[in-house]
Amino acid sequence: MKIAVIGGGYVGLVSGACFAELGNDVTIIEIDPAKVLAINEQQPPIYEIGLEDLLKKHIGNRLCASITYDSVASADIIFICVGTPPNSDGSANLSYIESASAMIGAARRTVPTYCVVVVKSTVPPGTTAKIVCPGVLQSAHKTEGEIGFVMNPEFLREGRAIADFMHPDRIVIGSADDRAFNYVAEAYHKIDVPVIRTSLSAAEMIKYTSNAFLAMKISFSNEIGNICKQLHIDVYEVMRGVGLDHRIGTQFLNAGVGFGGSCFPKDVSSLISLAKAIGEDPLILHAVLKVNTQQPNRLLKLLRARIGNLNGKKIAVLGLAFKDNTEDIRDSKAIPVIQELLLNGASVSAYDPMAVEAMRKLFPTVTYCHSAGHALDGADACLVMTEWPEFGKINKEFERMKTRVIIEGRRILSCNGTEGICW
Ligand code: UGA
Repeated sequence: MKIAVIGGGYVGLVSGACFAELGNDVTIIEIDPAKVLAINEQQPPIYEIGLEDLLKKHIGNRLCASITYDSVASADIIFICVGTPPNSDGSANLSYIESASAMIGAARRTVPTYCVVVVKSTVPPGTTAKIVCPGVLQSAHKTEGEIGFVMNPEFLREGRAIADFMHPDRIVIGSADDRAFNYVAEAYHKIDVPVIRTSLSAAEMIKYTSNAFLAMKISFSNEIGNICKQLHIDVYEVMRGVGLDHRIGTQFLNAGVGFGGSCFPKDVSSLISLAKAIGEDPLILHAVLKVNTQQPNRLLKLLRARIGNLNGKKIAVLGLAFKDNTEDIRDSKAIPVIQELLLNGASVSAYDPMAVEAMRKLFPTVTYCHSAGHALDGADACLVMTEWPEFGKINKEFERMKTRVIIEGRRILSCNGTEGICW
């Protein structure tokens, strides 16, 4: 099939490359010319395991990037993968969705053939029917039936997105239109997993609910972890015993300093905001965010309990990315922690295998180091903020600290003499 993907961010780029791998002809439409150039030169503008290999395999063959909407005219399926960033009240900003819809419509105005427009971006229920459908049709000067509409949420984790695309647990295709559903099912036909057909708005809600549920599992584990810490019980032992109940599941039960990233905090806030707009007060969702905001404060409280006043102290921060295998620092828990350390007169030496350059822009006064050992030199304490596997091997490097106070916000170290935020 001929596929156009609007947006060359991590969802659009990964989805585009994977659809090419599945045998489709794909054009990724991206407004940033530097990204277009990089993609066409087979250089991924983001770090994602396996992405460079896919670009090398398919660019110049079944995959290309473009700044124009020209390829939309001949596409069978057009995926909208643009961002839906939060407004100041937590609601989703749909302006990129609106402009993409208008541009798609304009590109299809003189095209007589059928195509399907698919929303992959995370959007509040009703967006595809009330904003995308009319936006595309009006701009195309067409009526219902001439263009099909589908909502097909993504469940890709940054850093593992290609594996998640190729081996999903399920594919959700929301559509009332059989022809549109069949087009999208066909694009995925090589992936042998259950395909769930739903209404447009149920598909939109499935994405929000999945992310909110996963975020809830993490905040729940953190709350249990905070209780376990007081009782001198290892929350990881507890959650192993709990998670093996197949009704609960073993994943997303790792207690720590809380969830970050561009999705969970934004999507839970957006769900709260849309619940409020219809007169609901979602108690659990509020608690999910409250626990998440408090975890970094607990880490700092623990640090103060161990080393006292922070003024003049040197704190080594290991890990800046919001999780391992990414250079992304959006909503990273390292941010509020570093901010508080600096505000209280501490000096910070930081190390991350990938995210140093991104964090340098936010905190230019931090000393950024080329290794964990370098960051630990003469430090009064060390805070572990990201679950990078390489941190599991750190041991002798801790001898370079002035005082051996090591507090984990993520459970990853394997040496003795450390303390965890909830263990
Ligand atoms: C998340 C979802 O997992 C994807 O399914 C979804 O498609 C994506 O959001 C999205 O909406 O686009 P992502 O934000 O990339 O993916 O990262 P996760 O692996 O889910 O981790 C999120 C945060 O939770 C990280 O800060 C991680 O350290 C933290 N986490 C994760 C925990 O604190 N404990 C856990 O047990 C698991």
